[in-house]
Amino acid sequence: MILTDHERAMAAGEAGEAVAAAMTVLVEYGEIMGAERLVETDNVCGAEIFGKRHSSVLGTTDPSTLFSRFALNSDAPMQVPPVRAHSCQLIGPRDHKLYQLQGLTEQEHREASKSEAYLASLGVSILNTCTPYQVGNNPRRGEHCAWMESSAVIYINSVLGARTNTEGRESAAASMLTGRTPYAGLHITENRRGTDLLRVETEMSSTFDWNVLGYFLGGVLGDSIPVLDGVRGPGPDPVSLKQFGAAAASSGDVELFHIPGVTAEVRTLDEAFGGHTPEQTIAFTQQDFDRTVAELNATATGDDIDFVMIGCPHASLNQLRDVARLLDGRRVSSDVALWVFTPSALRDIAARSGWLETIERAGARVLSDTCPAIGQFVPPGTRRFATDSAKQAHYLPPIAKIEGRFGSTAACIDAAISGRWVG
Ligand code: F3S
Repeated sequence: MILTDHERAMAAGEAGEAVAAAMTVLVEYGEIMGAERLVETDNVCGAEIFGKRHSSVLGTTDPSTLFSRFALNSDAPMQVPPVRAHSCQLIGPRDHKLYQLQGLTEQEHREASKSEAYLASLGVSILNTCTPYQVGNNPRRGEHCAWMESSAVIYINSVLGARTNTEGRESAAASMLTGRTPYAGLHITENRRGTDLLRVETEMSSTFDWNVLGYFLGGVLGDSIPVLDGVRGPGPDPVSLKQFGAAAASSGDVELFHIPGVTAEVRTLDEAFGGHTPEQTIAFTQQDFDRTVAELNATATGDDIDFVMIGCPHASLNQLRDVARLLDGRRVSSDVALWVFTPSALRDIAARSGWLETIERAGARVLSDTCPAIGQFVPPGTRRFATDSAKQAHYLPPIAKIEGRFGSTAACIDAAISGRWVG
């Protein structure tokens, strides 16, 4: 790999041993990716690495030791300097206000707070969400980023036209310290061309429909770059695009999709394929739709619901407002917990807008900073949950060893009120 003078100096330790270790991580990773050089990045998002799962593995709660071991692939603790790139912390294991609802102790909360304070002292923004693009980190088209979290990666690549590969904990931390990431994969224009054509033959009229389409697409296309054609209906809003991408990145490894005239980079099919012929063309039919919905409900053996989860990826302001409207004047069943997840900045706005009060008056709760899949928690005694997110329906049943129902937001709210799934 060809390094600039400045990068060679960082690798030689002129900026300290942690930065040198970070360069080693990036060069090794870049060579595996086939990169000939690094590219500058000033936008890095990494996930919480100081949760209780990690500290208990190491038998220590000293965050600087944890950082050096997990983030820089080293056994020896080392002095970590402030981050060089603008950096954000993604979603973590606990809600900084409602951690007791998760079943966490004061001690666990204090440990998480200590880790956050440590990260903040290095210059990392504590966003604590899987949707940084909803709360201030909105990369511009063509911007080179180094982000973790598959739902965020596919959103900024596709909807915003930013450029990132799906980073890991170590490579994201290394990018934070160096302001560099390998110039490979989706950083390169020709690798962003569409590969497969998906003809959408059903009417796409709701966010629920986009969830289903995304889950189908990831399952059949794996890690290709799909281009959607023939979409009928009002067109996807940002929430539908968020849910669609998250679903595609959970049933498959899709990191980028194009919808001509909707997503950032292409206006026509020709532009999307760069003059090439699609490797394959597949159709999404009503039968595919029905089969995918059945697949997402396959773990459920009954209709009693004891937990409803909304907000995967973290709910937008519009979703919070919709939930408040759906709950207004109603009461969640005493046998059901209804939890809505959103970035903490949006929870604050919901509070000032009166939506939080409406939601809580109905007996539901709004949590931030975490989610059941990442924090690995559900309300005690949960046997069967319902969600409006294909991604959460995919991940939570095996993680929490519970059954899952998947449907529209309105169907989930109805299930929370009645304790029964009607769908
Ligand atoms: Fe976000 Fe958790 Fe879903 S990280 S995308 S709410 S599984």
